[in-house]
Amino acid sequence: MAFDFSYYSPTKVVFGKNTENKVGELIKEFGGKKVLIHYGGKSAVASGLIDKVKTILDGEGIEHIELGGVVPNPHLGLVREGAELCKKEKVDFILAVGGGSVIDSAKAIAYSLGEPDKDVWELFLRERKPKECIPIGSILTISAAGSETSSSCVITNEKTKEKRSCNSDLSRPRFAIMDPVLTMTLPDYQTQSGCADIMMHTMERYFTNGGNMEMTDEIAEGLLRTVIKNAKILHKDPKNYEARAEVMWAGSLSHNNLTGCGNDGGDFMSHKLEHEMGGMFDVTHGAGLAAIWASWARYVYKDCLPRFVKYALNVMQVEPGETDEDTALRGIEAMEEFYREIDMPTNMRELGIEPTDEEIEAMAESCMRVCKKPSGSAKKLDKDDMIAIYKAAR
Ligand code: NZQ
Ligand code: ZN
Repeated sequence: MAFDFSYYSPTKVVFGKNTENKVGELIKEFGGKKVLIHYGGKSAVASGLIDKVKTILDGEGIEHIELGGVVPNPHLGLVREGAELCKKEKVDFILAVGGGSVIDSAKAIAYSLGEPDKDVWELFLRERKPKECIPIGSILTISAAGSETSSSCVITNEKTKEKRSCNSDLSRPRFAIMDPVLTMTLPDYQTQSGCADIMMHTMERYFTNGGNMEMTDEIAEGLLRTVIKNAKILHKDPKNYEARAEVMWAGSLSHNNLTGCGNDGGDFMSHKLEHEMGGMFDVTHGAGLAAIWASWARYVYKDCLPRFVKYALNVMQVEPGETDEDTALRGIEAMEEFYREIDMPTNMRELGIEPTDEEIEAMAESCMRVCKKPSGSAKKLDKDDMIAIYKAAR
């Protein structure tokens, strides 16, 4: 049965080769007069993209300042620094040039400027809800997080090692420039981690016990098959434009909630479990998801059997087993096989971390603080369940 829903995806997507040339006119269209160009470590500088953007903005007569240095699992400290800089310079628009980390850092700065007298971290601790956010736009350089069209913003407090999210339509970017060519410089590990994350955004919405629609399932299954196919192509042929384009578009559609229409909001426990791993061990988000997913799946599949069977048959396209449980398990095994094929980890050891019992306890404790009560849709998980899943993934 379909649940009621509202679908809101206001971001203007400008997709294709050389679309970054339109950045000036897009900023003007959305009212930006003084822009912070925000970016990461080095990739966007090394490729010449930042210089290109500056030249285009100069040509359009748009004032700009810049702040680089965003790290994966972006830090609260830089958000605060960016907010102070923008207040001093009277910035009214933030342009993120990069991936999910840069876009999320831009969103958090934009929240800070929307309510300049308040501490932005309160939003991530859920102590208050955001009321204002200045506009942002993005030039995407990695297909993964889907932040370019999502309502979500994920920031790590590097001092407390808490990785927390804040969700609000206020932070949805005004525009997203998506040129698949810009992703061709990615190392394979980042490309594949991105594919794992993209898939997981739809899988989190797919494995539910509440509300489903045939239309939504067809879109979801098509998206998942498309990412599987093109992740394998990119593993061998990273400069394949068509495959880059397919994955890039899937990345946005996977997390703008198109694949969640009609359900109960999805499961999202793999994400919550992974965010603790990211906060404590600073792992690459998509790879972390791949490392935890199969352990989560084996722990919950009996409580969500029809969806696991459907996934096995329609997405992983396995032969049916003798029982539904066999079929579901074949689907999980096929997913692990796919991860291995694209060199993604299927457990924490392969991810490169070996948490102690105490660290697992701490991650479960922290995850429970975020959830507040047993959570998930495929199966509700409490702290002991979380500990069991982390241990199975070790
Ligand atoms: O810093 P640079 O030098 O740019 O290097 C980055 C970074 O090391 C590199 N990179 C990006 N584009 C490149 C490139 N290297 C070469 N060529 C290019 N074209 O890739 C590395 C990863 O970048 P990052 O932005 O961290 O990747 P991703 O897009 O996967 O973002 C991950 C962050 O997003 C959060 C994750 O938790 C994590 O913090 N998420 C955000 C979501 C959202 N806002 O909706 C949802 C997701 O579930 C996720 O939680
Ligand atoms: Zn994700």
